[in-house]
Amino acid sequence: MRRIRKPLFIANWKMHKTVGEAELFFQAFNSKFPRDLDADVVIAPPFTLLQLAVQASREQYAIGAQDVFWKPEGAFTGEISARMLKDLHCAYVIIGHSERRQHFGETNEWVNRKVLASLKSGLIPVMCVGETLEQMQGGKTGEVVDKQIKEGLKGVTLTQGGTELVLAYEPVWAIGTGKADTPEQSNRTIALMREVLNRLIGEAASQRIRILYGGSVKPGNIRAFMDQPEIDGALVGGASLDPEDFVAIIESTSALS
Ligand code: PGA
Repeated sequence: MRRIRKPLFIANWKMHKTVGEAELFFQAFNSKFPRDLDADVVIAPPFTLLQLAVQASREQYAIGAQDVFWKPEGAFTGEISARMLKDLHCAYVIIGHSERRQHFGETNEWVNRKVLASLKSGLIPVMCVGETLEQMQGGKTGEVVDKQIKEGLKGVTLTQGGTELVLAYEPVWAIGTGKADTPEQSNRTIALMREVLNRLIGEAASQRIRILYGGSVKPGNIRAFMDQPEIDGALVGGASLDPEDFVAIIESTSALS
């Protein structure tokens, strides 16, 4: 299949790994990292491991954070700004993950502020959207992602033609459950998301924005997802903690080309 967008694979480590565990991961991952990979790879560890990850990456792959606050600095105990992330040479930041929406009360308005602050600082936001089980069963998937995209991207102007923004479709019911969406169904939802983008920011920019699938991606199912024309890559949680599994996932594109 001829791809118009370069595949992108992001490891979302969530709240996992100590320094020692991360060192072991990077040793193994670097030794297996494919040399002629035609894909972008990002590791998003917890804040405590960002500096170590940037050093370990040797610029073969990029590093991302899992969240950001929208103010550049100030009296915001516990928060980290886009400016601080840029200073550490982070390139990406995950924003609006459903775990943040569910457990920390993050709203579309907050997501929007974080997206705007990241773009302004030159970080690439990976904005996550997706419906809950109840919403899916009620046939509301399209409506939910439409609202999340429109509100999350309010006031966004893209100055680099769309390459500076990534979207991830992560059905909440598929995250960490071992029950991935079907490749066909997620392809349809992602096609809907691109239509929303077309109307919001114009077709030219929309065509350059990568939209990833996330939710129980494993070495055994990644190829079926990457075989779908609308799916540009994956946001991987559990399976990204194991260097061999994550290498198998990022290598899935080589097998298709
Ligand atoms: P999972 O998580 O791969 O463990 O389902 C995906 C995510 O939450 O980004």
